[in-house]
Amino acid sequence: MTINIALTKGRTEKMVLPLLKQAGLDIAPIQDKGRRLIFNDDPNYHVILAKGPDVLTYLNGGAMDVGIVGSDILVEQRNPQYDMLDLQTGQCRFVLASTADFDPGIARRKIIATKYPQITQDYFNTIGEDVEIIKIEGSVELAPLVGLADAIVDIVETGETLRDNQLQVYAELMPVSTHLVVNKLTLKQKRAEIQQLLFNLQEAIQEAAL
Ligand code: PRP
Repeated sequence: MTINIALTKGRTEKMVLPLLKQAGLDIAPIQDKGRRLIFNDDPNYHVILAKGPDVLTYLNGGAMDVGIVGSDILVEQRNPQYDMLDLQTGQCRFVLASTADFDPGIARRKIIATKYPQITQDYFNTIGEDVEIIKIEGSVELAPLVGLADAIVDIVETGETLRDNQLQVYAELMPVSTHLVVNKLTLKQKRAEIQQLLFNLQEAIQEAAL
């Protein structure tokens, strides 16, 4: 049976393709894709390229069997599918960051800008602080620089964006990496194929670590 894979396009795609190749997928059409979004040349694996936040939508709707997506999105969207494998790539972390003059102890309700309102809410619930959250779609680092927010909750990979914008880390929230999730129904219907894919990917991860 064919396994339908929704792969997050962009950075994740580039980091995961070598693993998929090692696991036996023909990735040449994806590497040479132009504007193509769907790859069904291989009878065993069909692949679509989707935006990260949409990957789970395809799985939840039953259109895809497997999703490859950052754990940031899985946590933010309260992933209802099976989180089967950490692909150990795309590692980064969530932080609370702001300008050098930010006072974490400030005696008023803070305004926090983020692309991840759920993760931000969870964090401030955990530390027992009531904050106002403003949802931003990208380049969140701007918000404290122009006075929209007191601080941000965002992903840091190399730290370059924070550094180049004179922002600093005030708290570490959680690590992030790329995961493979499987639609619950698929696991029943295509169990052998999924197990084979997981086995191949685990071997590929081990080889990549050598
Ligand atoms: C992410 C993140 C930071 C940046 C961190 O943004 O939101 O802005 O990468 O990476 P760094 O620590 O290596 O500098 P992305 O590039 O996805 O763009 P966006 O801000 O438009 O979402």
